[in-house]
Amino acid sequence: MITLALSKGRIFDETLPLLKAAGIEVLDDPEKTRKLILATNQPEVRVVLVRATDVPTYVQYGGADLGITGLDTLIEHGSDGLYQPLDLQIAKCRVSVAVREGYDYAAAVRQGARLRVATKYVAIAREFFAAKGVHVDLIKLYGSMELAPLTGLADAIVDLVSTGNTLKANHLVEVERIMDISSRLVVNQAALKLKREPIRRIIDAFGQALGQP
Ligand code: PRP
Repeated sequence: MITLALSKGRIFDETLPLLKAAGIEVLDDPEKTRKLILATNQPEVRVVLVRATDVPTYVQYGGADLGITGLDTLIEHGSDGLYQPLDLQIAKCRVSVAVREGYDYAAAVRQGARLRVATKYVAIAREFFAAKGVHVDLIKLYGSMELAPLTGLADAIVDLVSTGNTLKANHLVEVERIMDISSRLVVNQAALKLKREPIRRIIDAFGQALGQP
């Protein structure tokens, strides 16, 4: 049995065409079922639905053989024991710094002020500001980062930006782009050895669908 860990929503939807290229069709719609294990048209392949941030954990410990996860999640989790053969070029967005409209971020950075930064992406934010030589107090949040500058919890946030609509709707502006994000295929290294052939077939089909050799 080959188990693929996916999260519901954008990653799931954008993975379907790649699965199709590998001859795999998921038999249930995750938005319509309460099931967490979904069968596919291939009796030896199943999909498990997990939270986006849990995908690397499932694959690392062998709860799933393969998974698809955003680079943001992968960096925060760490990639020990994970083989990363492909950038799937899906669920593209970026990690950026944003502040309240009218907040002079450049001046705050120039003056060497200690910035309070709220984020779910603590590792990414820590490394980014350390490289810039900016002192920050990081405040870990689990969602709705946009609220932090509006309520005085933080001076800035580090968050995912896609269309920019969420920032705009909350009167925030993007002041620095930290990195571009896309989803990656991750594979359990032991599974790659034990189930080499079926896993390779999936990696190769994905790679071909993406136009990569
Ligand atoms: C992300 C991010 C922003 C939003 C940005 O949230 O945290 O809130 O998308 O997208 P936009 O630039 O197109 O408006 P997501 O929906 O992934 O859920 P999350 O809040 O759980 O991270």
